[in-house]
Amino acid sequence: PIVPVILCGGSGTRLWPMSRQLYPKQLLPMLGGEETLLQATLSRLQSIPDAGAPMLLCNEAHRFMVAAQAQEAGATPAHILLEPVARNTAPAIAVAALTAQAAGEDPLLLVLPADHHIANQDAFAQAVASGRAAAEQGGLVTFGIVPDCPETGYGYIRMDLDGDEPDAVPVFEFVEKPDQATAQSYLDAGGYVWNSGMFLFKASTYLEELGRHQPAILEACQNAVQHARNDLDFTRLDEAAFAASPEDSIDYAVMEKTDRAMVVPLACGWSDVGSWAALHETLDQDPDGNVFVGDVQAVDVRSSYIHSNARLVTALGVENLVLVETSDAIMVSTLDRVQEVKTLVSALKDQQ
Ligand code: GDD
Ligand code: MG
Repeated sequence: PIVPVILCGGSGTRLWPMSRQLYPKQLLPMLGGEETLLQATLSRLQSIPDAGAPMLLCNEAHRFMVAAQAQEAGATPAHILLEPVARNTAPAIAVAALTAQAAGEDPLLLVLPADHHIANQDAFAQAVASGRAAAEQGGLVTFGIVPDCPETGYGYIRMDLDGDEPDAVPVFEFVEKPDQATAQSYLDAGGYVWNSGMFLFKASTYLEELGRHQPAILEACQNAVQHARNDLDFTRLDEAAFAASPEDSIDYAVMEKTDRAMVVPLACGWSDVGSWAALHETLDQDPDGNVFVGDVQAVDVRSSYIHSNARLVTALGVENLVLVETSDAIMVSTLDRVQEVKTLVSALKDQQ
């Protein structure tokens, strides 16, 4: 069986003011409708034939919301692992792998961020099936998205097209978050895909490679799991042990360095819902290129994203605009600068 490992520890600062520290984007219905991104991720597991009970990883501050949303989505998690501090994805996945192994097994782990949107569930399930053999043979399988712009927030994977693997192909090179010029050169060269941030591998494969390239993370996580304690439906990792782990993502800690990386190309209408611009791309636009969510009245507005949560929002004669309204904050930006909302949020934090 496959054990889904759902990462829901991110903070989603670029989607401020909807996404907040205590209410990050994965726990919100960012795409309109009722379902939160976490719930959509859990529902998606139904398209994977032998997916077992999922393991959820989140910050302890979010535990009750995560548990309630899972229950509401009809999912019964095998574990909800609580991180006392955020140490990024390399340690989070390590504690999941160690917990899976503690039951005396070495299952395949399907690592899924809780905040992605996937339009075509069948294509996704098909890609997981295609990656399976490579993962069972000890590969670290990732799923590659055909890039359409030199986005610098993603990992870039150069596929080794001479590989003779029928489904997954070996990764020739993995570069996490290159600068703009490098990303553009990859696009020009061709043969590169984006790392989707979803992975399939045996628990032991990941732990071996982590131990090889970042032994301090592995050791801290072993201690954190060994001294973890159960609390209601939750498993609390040992705080001192987990806090001692270096902070790093799986991408830098393992994927850039390992020679066991494999990639399955994936065309499924994927979005990491990373910014307001990504939502503008993902949701259905009207003929003028607008996405309006909530109570919005607009005249002569083009290529804009307007989102109302609490009040009526009206707009007249604007273009390339993002406007997000909540009960206590409003954010206005041009569409091409929404990546910088992160900076805006840091500036706010500095003032406090
Ligand atoms: N449990 C837990 N704990 N989850 C975390 C933590 C943590 O400390 N940090 C991040 N996450 C979750 C986030 O919520 C998100 O779902 C996922 O892990 C990835 O983290 P991000 O912080 O969003 O990573 P990124 O967007 O910078 O980059 C990753 O995703 C890109 C695609 O969206 C990388 O994998 C890139 O290579 C990739 O292209
Ligand atoms: Mg992300």
